[in-house]
Amino acid sequence: MKILLIGSGGREHALAWKLSQSPRCETLFIAPGNPGTAQCGTNVQLNVADHQAVVDFCRLMGVGFVVVGPEAPLVAGIVDDLAAAGIKAFGPSRVAAQLEGSKAYTKELCREAGVPTADFARFTQPGPAKAHVRAQGAPIVVKADGLAAGKGVVVAATVEEAEAAIDMMFSGGLGAAGEEVVIEECMVGEEASFFALVDGDAALPLASAQDHKRVGDGDTGPNTGGMGAYSPAPVVTDAVAARVMAEIIEPTVAAMKRRGAPFRGVLFAGLMITADGPRLIEYNCRFGDPECEALMPRLQGDLVEALLATVEGGVSRLALGWSPQAALTVVMAARGYPAKPETGTPIRGVEDAEALDGVQVFHAGTRQAPDGSLVAAGGRVLAVTALGDSIAEARKRAYEGVARIDWPGGFNRTDIGWRAV
Ligand code: AMP
Ligand code: GLY
Repeated sequence: MKILLIGSGGREHALAWKLSQSPRCETLFIAPGNPGTAQCGTNVQLNVADHQAVVDFCRLMGVGFVVVGPEAPLVAGIVDDLAAAGIKAFGPSRVAAQLEGSKAYTKELCREAGVPTADFARFTQPGPAKAHVRAQGAPIVVKADGLAAGKGVVVAATVEEAEAAIDMMFSGGLGAAGEEVVIEECMVGEEASFFALVDGDAALPLASAQDHKRVGDGDTGPNTGGMGAYSPAPVVTDAVAARVMAEIIEPTVAAMKRRGAPFRGVLFAGLMITADGPRLIEYNCRFGDPECEALMPRLQGDLVEALLATVEGGVSRLALGWSPQAALTVVMAARGYPAKPETGTPIRGVEDAEALDGVQVFHAGTRQAPDGSLVAAGGRVLAVTALGDSIAEARKRAYEGVARIDWPGGFNRTDIGWRAV
């Protein structure tokens, strides 16, 4: 079948790489894609915010299946519009994408379904929000309700810091995302990511991973989209995974169905593994980036079949194999990221890194210059991934790959995987 993948990051290169290996993938288009996805299929310049243009492209080219990578088109309802046009699409509907699009929606759903998560209260005015913070004390977490590109969460160590975050959000510091604010209890433990395919009725666990959100070594500096990841996460033991499915994922799937908003797609649970067991921090309604780059090399089954089963129903009949090997991804970012990444700097040596056994380089913000050379074109630029018999071995190989990339305009963390090694 002909498949269209939407997105342009490292996650989409990893998805394109895996989708293109499926015998069911006859042609793969990626919109807009990047120089990495161009090695797996054909990049097309489509305005993905224009859903009618996407529908028209699918009809013109005979695309039978659309896979949506990032959250923004999901929250904008692209899957609803494709479905209305009779085109199958992987990802939740606009309403079900509220699990990522609105923190208040998710917190209410958790309360209704008995999903363990931080206690919370919702506010639309700064006065009552601050009174609540003063009554609760610090540490406390202040969140903008809507999508804020990773900037909408402040884990405040003091009451003053929490009050400043409340003022920032209500004075429009994050735009419309901050019109409502959710204040949460601060949970303590180790964080992990957990992924499951959900077909509206049933959920199939995929794998766990761990991200590195801060820009600097030792988890210092500002938050980013993620500077590296590994899979599986040792903190998610089989017993913890079983509890995540029974106490978090399955009750959520049932509650969404009861609400008349069945979730179909990949449910990405951000977890805090506390002394009392796993608790939900937040949901995302898509694969993580860079978690996806660590997941895909471990997946042994057919990704097209798995994603189709998610849309059509029947994930419980899937038997997806996972490599017992670990995978570790090191993100290489442009100097100045996350504040002001410097673009246009030349990158060499990607092929040399990929020549290493078990190493795969996924492109994110790269661009092909007119002379055919590779240059940086974004914040997160490359995701260097390696497999190994242990996280330590995967890490050693991934950093050997990084060392072969000649890019003076970039930088990377040197301690990805420290928690696990
Ligand atoms: P988010 O943008 O929702 O992924 O949150 C960013 C980060 O804030 C998370 O990865 C956690 O480290 C932290 N965080 C969010 N909510 C809580 C909470 N209730 N307790 C402790 N940490 C939290
Ligand atoms: N790496 C975290 C995310 O994709 O949201």
